[in-house]
Amino acid sequence: MLNIIVTGATGLLGGILVPHLHAKGHKVTAHGLTKKADVNADLTDREAVFTMMDSVRPDCVINLVNLSNVDRCEEDPDLAYRMNALPAENLAAAILDHHGARLVHISTDHLYDNPAPNPEERIVIRNTYALSKHASELAALRVPGAIVLRVNFFGKSRTTGRLSFSDSLIENFRSGKPMTLFTDVLFSPLSMTTLSEMIRIVAESGTAGVFNLGSRNGMSKRDFALSLARRLNLQNGSARDGLSTDVNLKARRPVGMLMDSSRFERAFNVTLPALEDEIMNSKV
Ligand SMILES: NC(=O)c1ccc[n+]([C@@H]2O[C@H](COP(=O)([O-])OP(=O)(O)OC[C@H]3O[C@@H](n4cnc5c(N)ncnc54)[C@H](OP(=O)(O)O)[C@@H]3O)[C@@H](O)[C@H]2O)c1
Repeated sequence: MLNIIVTGATGLLGGILVPHLHAKGHKVTAHGLTKKADVNADLTDREAVFTMMDSVRPDCVINLVNLSNVDRCEEDPDLAYRMNALPAENLAAAILDHHGARLVHISTDHLYDNPAPNPEERIVIRNTYALSKHASELAALRVPGAIVLRVNFFGKSRTTGRLSFSDSLIENFRSGKPMTLFTDVLFSPLSMTTLSEMIRIVAESGTAGVFNLGSRNGMSKRDFALSLARRLNLQNGSARDGLSTDVNLKARRPVGMLMDSSRFERAFNVTLPALEDEIMNSKV
């Protein structure tokens, strides 16, 4: 049994990951900022991070803290740095100072923008969110033995007030709200359930470095949405095909976010599922 603290546990992924780690027999402390949690602390405050780490004394820190609003990050780069990079810097400082815990840092596929599945080295920074997430990775990697997992995910949210990408699609299909399905945006997410199990395996291992962690193959966001509609027998008449460049957004979005996760499969001796199977078999 590991003594694990999940920072940012009150967010979307934490709502699935924390119960999963509990069910696998680990002692889990759930951290949040504003929402009710086992421990609340502002991770931009270094002293607060040291105090939290002194009281929990974890074997393993799984860091989910972030500001995922890409346009907000573009408008306010300082906020993007404070919410994405600074928490990782402060956790790394506390671990390096005296805690010696293993650091599992969760990052994003938003660091890629190439049409073919991207290996870990092929980073393209398109916006401030991506820049601040990459900065967070570099901060985490200062800790010996740290592991960075670049992810994307979907599934039914258990977190009040926080919808996943698939939740939003389902809501729009059900209400008949018009929406544009992007044919040009390619991604390879996992369900939050599969991702949580992979993070559990990672936490229990000693493997270090940077890894993509996504489904075996991917698809466009349009094909993902239509597969989801088929799975749930939802009418898709309210949706139309389009390009991400058709909409006017503050931050430029990457489109080629497919991840080549073969390094992860080899290192952890697992076979990751195909995205179509994830959509058909997971809780949505
Ligand atoms: N969501 C996606 O679709 C997606 C896609 C790709 C990658 N990812 C990555 O997956 C990870 C988890 O994302 P998520 O969507 O689950 O996160 P989320 O729902 O946005 O949750 C963010 C968490 O960070 C906490 N937080 C924010 N500012 C903080 C601060 N200053 N100090 C301490 N805690 C703070 C929040 O606490 P309170 O809620 O208590 O205020 C919350 O627990 C992130 O690394 C993200 O980059 C997410």
